[in-house]
Amino acid sequence: MSTFRFKEDFVWGVATSSYQIEGAAHEDGRGASIWDAFCRVPGKVVNGESGDVACDHYHRFEQDLDLMADLGVNAYRFSIAWPRVQPDGSGAFNEKGLAFYDRLVDGLLARGIQPFATLYHWDLPLALQEAQNGWENRDTAYRFADYARKIGGALGDRVASIATHNEPWCTAWLGNATGYFAPGNADLKKAAHVAHHLLLSHGLAVQALRADGVKTPLGIVLNQSPAHGATNAPEDLAAASLEYAKFVRWYMDPIFKGEYPAEALHWYGENGPQDVVREGDFEIIGAPLDFLGINYYTRIFASASGEKRPPGEHGFTDMDWEIYPEGLTELLTRLNADYTLPPIYITENGCATKDALEHGRVHDAQRIRFYDLHLAALAQAAQRGVDVAGYFAWSLLDNFEWASGYDKRFGMVHVDYATQQRTLKDSAHWYRDVIAEHAGAMASR
Ligand code: FCB
Repeated sequence: MSTFRFKEDFVWGVATSSYQIEGAAHEDGRGASIWDAFCRVPGKVVNGESGDVACDHYHRFEQDLDLMADLGVNAYRFSIAWPRVQPDGSGAFNEKGLAFYDRLVDGLLARGIQPFATLYHWDLPLALQEAQNGWENRDTAYRFADYARKIGGALGDRVASIATHNEPWCTAWLGNATGYFAPGNADLKKAAHVAHHLLLSHGLAVQALRADGVKTPLGIVLNQSPAHGATNAPEDLAAASLEYAKFVRWYMDPIFKGEYPAEALHWYGENGPQDVVREGDFEIIGAPLDFLGINYYTRIFASASGEKRPPGEHGFTDMDWEIYPEGLTELLTRLNADYTLPPIYITENGCATKDALEHGRVHDAQRIRFYDLHLAALAQAAQRGVDVAGYFAWSLLDNFEWASGYDKRFGMVHVDYATQQRTLKDSAHWYRDVIAEHAGAMASR
């Protein structure tokens, strides 16, 4: 028996994203994305790997939908590959690409699983990057809104929700300030411009979908963490506050308060977004939302004093991310106090572990413990008044983990990349039992 309880209509889901699982990178008219190009730059991805084949989900999606039905999830969060449905990011749409998501959505509905669609999980059409520097260019935000409208028209009546972006911080910061992700720029000012255009594109898309009469709940997915100082020394606490402002508030404040946080603006100085912010942008960015998606993995640890991170009570994952479940409760209760928010979904939460497939089993006890601790922390937040609508485990399948390639395994289903054989790990069996137990508790009321 699990220790946590959620409200009756709680959404139990699993999440994936297009580039990480689909493969079929050159099929049925799909255009290239910035990740296709980035993966070919030597040294950017572990072992020079790419999402060319990934989990071959494009061809095996029916089997993957059956896996989900078998787990008993009532929702699936996936993303749409923009270059699959609009190869150049502007102009003509690709009917074959649209047809794939049509089949996917119908397949979900046929199995009683609610489709939660994300429009952008980092695979920008390469043509937009090459022709106009991608998100550095304000026009890309308008191209995104056009693409959003097309998806709203094609799938809006059948999906349970549409999120505009997944983790814009990653696109802006990892893609443009550190160069760790595509498109691989290392330029702070570019990152600030990109972040602003991502936020703008979010608002434009929400407005456009609403204007088109799309009734589907609309939202955005942000990755967030509380930030802690190494000590209680003022310089460490100030460092933590700044990290939180750069990571969390940089996206939350524009959307829910109509401004950038002064503390972080000050830190950006002349490299901030001021050159690209236009009058009226914050009204667009602040378009009312029906839900907020939060991806939670770990906390931020800030040290100005040079003091090291204490060894966590729960250890670290294979990504070397500290396991810190109480941070989820802390984060959500703080957000609830700081903003007026729509219902919250945890749209990703999970961990990479060193898994071994032996005799058809994967004993991923660390992953079970991770999920268990985080679901308990989430239930705590709900008890403290946070409106928690659902939870999506990251991820259904082992998949292409960006710069880490296939080396890091986040799935509750093991993928043998040589044969594309799927095997339920112990965590998948555990998750199925948790869902059944909760669904059972509801049914017996
Ligand atoms: C998140 C991403 C997701 C996955 C997990 C581990 O930042 O949204 O695609 O890579 O991390």
